[in-house]
Amino acid sequence: MEGVIIGPERITMPATSVKASASSRTNQKHQPESNRQVEAERTTAVALTILYGTETGNAQQLAEQAAEQAQQRGLSARAIDMANYKPRELKAERLLMIVTATHGEGDPPEPAQPFHEFLHSRKAPALKHLRFAVLSLGDSSYEHFCQTGKDFDAQLETLGGTRLADRVDCDVDYEDAAEAWIEQSLARFAEIVEREPELRQGATPAVASEPAQAREAPAYDKKNPFPAEILENVRLTGRGSAKETRHVELSLEGSGLRFEPGDILCLAPRNRPEVVDALLAATGFSASELVDTRSGRMSLAEALAREYEITTLTPPFLKAYAQCGGHASLQALLEPSNREKLNDYIWGRHVIDVIEQFPVPDLEPRGFVEMLRRLPAREYSIASSFEANPDEVHLTVAAVRYHSHGRDRHGVASTYLADLTEPGTQIPVYVKPNKTFKLPADPDTPIIMIGPGTGVAPFRAFMQHREYDEARGRNWLFFGEQRFRTDFLYQTEWQAWLKQRLLHRIDLAFSRDQSQKVYVQDRMLERSRELFAWLEEGAHVYVCGDADRMAPDVHRALETIVHREGGVSAERATEYVKNLQREKRYQRDVY
Ligand SMILES: Cc1cc2nc3c(=O)[nH]c(=O)nc-3n(C[C@H](O)[C@H](O)[C@H](O)COP(=O)(O)OP(=O)(O)OC[C@H]3O[C@@H](n4cnc5c(N)ncnc54)[C@H](O)[C@@H]3O)c2cc1C
Ligand SMILES: NC(=O)c1ccc[n+]([C@@H]2O[C@H](COP(=O)([O-])OP(=O)(O)OC[C@H]3O[C@@H](n4cnc5c(N)ncnc54)[C@H](OP(=O)(O)O)[C@@H]3O)[C@@H](O)[C@H]2O)c1
Ligand SMILES: Cc1cc2nc3c(=O)[nH]c(=O)nc-3n(C[C@H](O)[C@H](O)[C@H](O)COP(=O)(O)O)c2cc1C
Repeated sequence: MEGVIIGPERITMPATSVKASASSRTNQKHQPESNRQVEAERTTAVALTILYGTETGNAQQLAEQAAEQAQQRGLSARAIDMANYKPRELKAERLLMIVTATHGEGDPPEPAQPFHEFLHSRKAPALKHLRFAVLSLGDSSYEHFCQTGKDFDAQLETLGGTRLADRVDCDVDYEDAAEAWIEQSLARFAEIVEREPELRQGATPAVASEPAQAREAPAYDKKNPFPAEILENVRLTGRGSAKETRHVELSLEGSGLRFEPGDILCLAPRNRPEVVDALLAATGFSASELVDTRSGRMSLAEALAREYEITTLTPPFLKAYAQCGGHASLQALLEPSNREKLNDYIWGRHVIDVIEQFPVPDLEPRGFVEMLRRLPAREYSIASSFEANPDEVHLTVAAVRYHSHGRDRHGVASTYLADLTEPGTQIPVYVKPNKTFKLPADPDTPIIMIGPGTGVAPFRAFMQHREYDEARGRNWLFFGEQRFRTDFLYQTEWQAWLKQRLLHRIDLAFSRDQSQKVYVQDRMLERSRELFAWLEEGAHVYVCGDADRMAPDVHRALETIVHREGGVSAERATEYVKNLQREKRYQRDVY
C-alpha cells in the first residue's frame, strides 16, 4: 500500500537554514525547558557533582536520590544529566559521582554519548585533582554488561582522577546494590571533605542543579505494584499472520496512577507453571520445600514462579553453576577467549537446558536459588492517553514464542499477558516516566512518528493525546509490518484519524507483500524532500521499536535525507542529526 497524503504539502526549504547548522537554530523556542530553567539559576558553588547517563530514567532516579542523601549529610550536591553538562566544567570538578546505564550493544545511553565521546577524546582535560566514583547499571543477559560504567571508571582514572569507591556493576535488580553503593560512596566523599574542608567550596557550575521535578510519590511503584485488572485482551494480528501481537487494556481505577504519552508500564510477570514443574523435575527438588526470598519465606514452587528468572541464561548464573558443579567444559566456555562460543551456547537455551546437560548431584535448593537473579519486571510502551482514557492503560504486546534445542519456548511476560485472556485477572504493574520520549511542549509543533511493529504503541498514545488536546501540529506516521492483510496494527484507528485530518500523512511499509523487502526507512527516503521540509520547519522526530536493526537503519536514513535534501556534506548531515538529538527534537524509545 502506498503512502497517503492529506492536503497540499508544498513546503519550501529555507535555502540557508541547514548550512547555518542546526545548533545556530537553537533558539528560545527549541531550547529544552529544563535548560532554560537551570540557566536562570547559575552560580551556587557545589561540592559534589553527580552526572547521570540514562535512557529510561533508572540512573536519573538514583542520581537524584544520591544528591538528596548528600544534602542530608551537609554536602552541597547537584544531579545533572550528562546531556546538559558542559564538558569544560570538568576541569574544575573536585568530587564527581557518575551513575550510568548501558544501552545498545554496550553503548552509552543516547543522551550521554557526547559526554562519553568528549571524555575519550583528546580534548579531555587532565583530572589529577578529581576524586570520583562510578555506579553502573546494566543487564547481565547482555554481552557487554555495564560497559559504559566500566568505560567511565577506567577513563577517569586514565585522566588522573582518584577512585574514592569501587565501581559497582548492577544487574536488573539494582536497588539494594545501588543503595549500598550510594551510602558507601557518600561516606567516602564526606570523609574527604572532613579532611580537606576547602572541598566544600567546590566548583561554580555554569549549569546549576536540575530542579527535581515536583513529584508526589505514587502510592504504587516498583516495590509496591498495583494489581491491575485485565479489561480486554484481543489479538490484533489476523488469521494467517506469522505474528501474535495483542492489544491489552488494564484498569488503573483506584490506583491514583497517572502517566503521560511516551511513558512506560512495567509489569511483574510469573513464570509459566509448566516451566516451574519441568525445572523441579530436572533438579529433583521438592515443590513444597521452603526457601527464603527477598519477599519472605515461601515454597520453592512459588519462589520459582514469581521471584526468580528461571529461563533466560546469564553469564553470572553460568559461572556460579559451573563453579558448584565443577564441569570442566562449562568452565572452559566461560573463559574470556571463548566469548563467541558462549554467546552461541546461550542463544535459545534456558536454565533447564544447562541443568539437564550438566547435572550436579548434590545441588541444594537454597544454593540453587542464590545463583538465580530476581525476575525483572518487563517494560511496555503505553499505547493510550491517560486523558483520553482515564483510569485505563493500553499496551501493544508481541508474544514471544519460538522453538529451540528441542523445546517450545515462551517469553515470560509477553506470553503471561497474551495467555491471560480472562477479563478480571489481575497483574502487578507500575508506571515508569520516560522523560526522553515526550511530545513537544508546543502543540502546534509538527511531529514525525516512525514505529514499525509494536513500535507503533506510543504513537497511538500520542495521537489520542493530540486529539484530546486539540493540538494543531501536523502528524505524520511511518508504520511497517510484515503483511498489509494481517498485520496493519490499529488500521481502523489510523484511517479514522486520517479521515478527520488529525493524521496528515501515513506511509506504510509491508515488508513481505512483495518479493523485495520494504522497510520504513525506504518510505522515508522516498519522501525525503517533504520529510526534510518538515524538519526544517521544526518537526520533532520519534522512533520506537527494534533497537538492533531498525533504529540504526532509520538513523542512517535521516542522515541521508539531510545530506541529500540539505545539500550538505555527509559530516554536516551527521552533525545536523546529532543536533536534533541535543535539542530533543529527535527522540527514541527502542528495545
Ligand atoms: C522501553 C521498552 C519498551 C518496550 N515496549 C514494548 C512494547 O510496547 N511491546 C512489546 O511487545 N515489547 C516491548 N518491549 C519489550 C518487552 O519489555 C519484553 O522484552 C518483551 O515482551 C519480551 O519479554 P518476555 O518476558 O516475553 O520474553 P523473555 O522471557 O525476556 O525472553 C526474551 C528473550 O528470548 C530470546 N529469544 C527471543 N526470540 C528468540 C528466538 N527466536 N530464538 C532464540 N531466542 C529467542 C532472546 O534472548 C530474548 O531476549 C519494550 C522494552 C523496553 C525496554
Ligand atoms: N527483547 C525481547 O525479548 C523482544 C521481544 C519482542 C520484541 N523485541 C524486539 O522488538 C522489536 C519489535 O518487534 P515486533 O514484532 O513488534 O516487530 P519487528 O520485528 O520490528 O517487525 C516489524 C517490521 O519491521 C521490519 N523490519 C525488520 N528489520 C528491519 C529494519 N532493519 N529496518 C526497518 N524495519 C525492519 C519487519 O520486517 P521483516 O520481519 O519482514 O524483516 C516488519 O515488517 C523486534 O525487532 C525485537 O527485536 C524484543
Ligand atoms: C535496548 C536496550 C539495550 C541495552 N543494552 C545493554 C547492554 O549492552 N549492556 C548492559 O549491561 N545493559 C544493557 N541494557 C540494560 C540497561 O542498562 C538497564 O535496563 C538500565 O537499568 C537502564 O537504565 P536507565 O533507565 O537509566 O536507562 C539495555 C537495555 C535496553 C532497553
